Order: sequence, then structure tokens, then C-alpha cells
Amino acid sequence: MLGLYGFQIQTSGNVYEPAEDTFLLISALQNLNLEGKNVLEIGTGSGIIALVLAKKAKHVLAVDINPEAVKCAKENAEQNKIKNAEFHKSDLFANVKGILRNRESVRYTLGFFNRRLKSLPQGMISRQAGKSSKASNASERKFDLIVFNPPYLPDEPIYKNIALDGGKDGRQIIERFLKDAPKFLNPHGKIILLESSLSRYEKTLLHFKKIGFSAKAIARQKFDWEELVVIEAFKPV
Ligand SMILES: C[S@@+](CC[C@H](N)C(=O)[O-])C[C@H]1O[C@@H](n2cnc3c(N)ncnc32)[C@H](O)[C@@H]1O
Repeated sequence: MLGLYGFQIQTSGNVYEPAEDTFLLISALQNLNLEGKNVLEIGTGSGIIALVLAKKAKHVLAVDINPEAVKCAKENAEQNKIKNAEFHKSDLFANVKGILRNRESVRYTLGFFNRRLKSLPQGMISRQAGKSSKASNASERKFDLIVFNPPYLPDEPIYKNIALDGGKDGRQIIERFLKDAPKFLNPHGKIILLESSLSRYEKTLLHFKKIGFSAKAIARQKFDWEELVVIEAFKPV
């Protein structure tokens, strides 16, 4: 059991234990004003970043491709009585739309039944529920902040670990993330991700420039073998 940022955190064998990269990313997130904001964390691992964010945000959706990590993060949230964070399995953004859609339909269905069940004739229920669902706010299906501490180590047999292995040149997962993240961002939203000199973080800064985002390093930490960098990016409006 680790005591971190006021939380008691447990990890298991196949779940990434919070380390220097986690801590640098959290230090860069501490100054954000997240009141009323919806946050998405990709690759949540133990869930520690999601828990820190949940203390400041309205809601955190956290996903991981590793089902053990999802289970571990859920247990850590329960253990620490965090109620405004949910955890699901997803390969990057693959299931995010589906998760939001399910959440919305459950919310609308429950609301609908609570308000109207007793008063409506049976045949009207599905028609009315359909209307409510369409009328929901599109911006609630996107995020004000998307955070990712990705696997970024260049492909080497020793690193065959899903939490660390960034594939060929360390950028395979990062490049997939960069392609989809803007689609899930609200107009005033931000992307904050951790990168390393080992995965050539300058390529990410260049990518954001190319797609019209403003991007810069907001935190750095040097080690003998690499430099960690936290990148913040947003689309100027
Ligand atoms: C470096 S760890 C970071 C864990 C945690 N966020 C932290 O900072 O301590 C990377 C995490 O990304 C997850 N991951 C790797 N590939 C993924 C993918 N394609 N989609 C979602 N999560 C992924 C791993 O399972 C792992 O939990």
C-alpha cells in the first residue's frame, strides 16, 4: 500500500506502480482550475492521476487497455471514497463514445422513469425516452481536459510490458492518441500528456503546430538517461 497525495493506493503485479513520470505529470496538473470540468484520463494504471483529478473536477472518466489496471483503479477509488470517477477498459478512445452513450441512456431512462412512469400510457415511454436522449447536450459527450501518461519506451524485448512499451521508436501509442484526442475535446479543452526525450517529444510539439494547436512544455525533469516533459496543448479559439 502506497500513501500518495493523501490517498492509499494499491497496485498488483501487472499494474503500473506510480513513478517519476506519474509524479511529474501530477505536479503539472496541480495548478489547474477544474471546477465543473469533465476530465478523461487515458491509461489510468493504478488510477492515482484520476483520483487526484477527481478531487478538483466535476467528473473523471478513466480508461486503460489492461483489465487488471481497470479493476485496481476501481478498487483504489472505492478504498478512497472517490465517487465522481469511473473506470472502464478501452484501447485509447475506442470505447469512450460507447461508455458515454451508455451513461447518457441510463441517466435519461432513469430520469424519465422517475418522473413519468406513473403518469404515462405504456406506448409513449419509448418515444419520449428517444426524444430526451437526442436533446442531450453534445458538449457533455466531450472533455475539458484529456490526460495521458503513455507507454513510450522504444521497442526492445526487455520492455515487453504494456505499461511501458511504446512500440517502434516509442511513438506508436502516442501517435494514435494524437490522431484521436482532438475529436474528444471541448472547444476550450486542453490535452496534457507526458513524454520523454526517448520518444522524441519534439515530434509531438510539431504535430500540434501542424494541426493548429498551441503547444508547449509546462514541466520538465532530467535524468541521466532521459528528460521527461509534460506537454500542454489546446486549440486557440
Ligand atoms: C506509464 S503507465 C501510466 C499509468 C498511470 N497513469 C500513471 O501515470 O501512473 C501507461 C498506462 O497506459 C496503459 N495503456 C497502454 N496502452 C494503452 C492503450 N492502447 N489504451 C489504453 N491504455 C493503454 C497501460 O496499461 C498503463 O496502465
